[in-house]
Amino acid sequence: MTELSSETIAIVKSTAGAMQVHGVAITTRMYERLFVDPAVKGMFDQAAQTSGEQPRRLAGAILAFSQNVDRLSVLAPAIHKMTKRHAECGVQAAHYPIVAGALLPAIKDVLGDAIDEKTLGAWGEAYWFLANLLIAEEAQIYAEAA
Ligand code: HEM
Repeated sequence: MTELSSETIAIVKSTAGAMQVHGVAITTRMYERLFVDPAVKGMFDQAAQTSGEQPRRLAGAILAFSQNVDRLSVLAPAIHKMTKRHAECGVQAAHYPIVAGALLPAIKDVLGDAIDEKTLGAWGEAYWFLANLLIAEEAQIYAEAA
């Protein structure tokens, strides 16, 4: 798997403060964008959306990722928890571009002019780095279950 460049890592880490302040607004907006697709919406427990619990969980994961993007071993237990939950919900590799297409525009929607194209591009790279880790671990869970 291609490693993230030190520049991308530095850019993503520099946004940790913004993610701390605006993370829940970003993930709430992300789910609004994501749930335009009824098939994707049907995969999520809507009670956890209404209570704000799922947007908070995802914002927590994104914040932890922005803080530890160069120390992934810190994130390993959280990653295992996510992949276990994803496998229970039938998350597939093909879903990841859909989430990217909701998350990255949601970051822009919330941060507006406070985030430039380069920073958003770094987040896009970082998203795919994490997504590929999750996809690989989920493939292993599905293979073991088969
Ligand atoms: C890098 C991308 C992603 C990250 C960081 C992420 C993160 C998370 C986290 C932190 C949770 C909560 C786990 C828990 O504590 O129970 C979760 C649950 C979940 N994720 Fe993801 N996820 C990603 C991609 C996806 C994709 C592509 C899908 C497919 C549509 C998806 C669907 C779900 C579902 C259905 C749940 C369970 C939610 C519920 O209980 O209602 N995720 N994810």
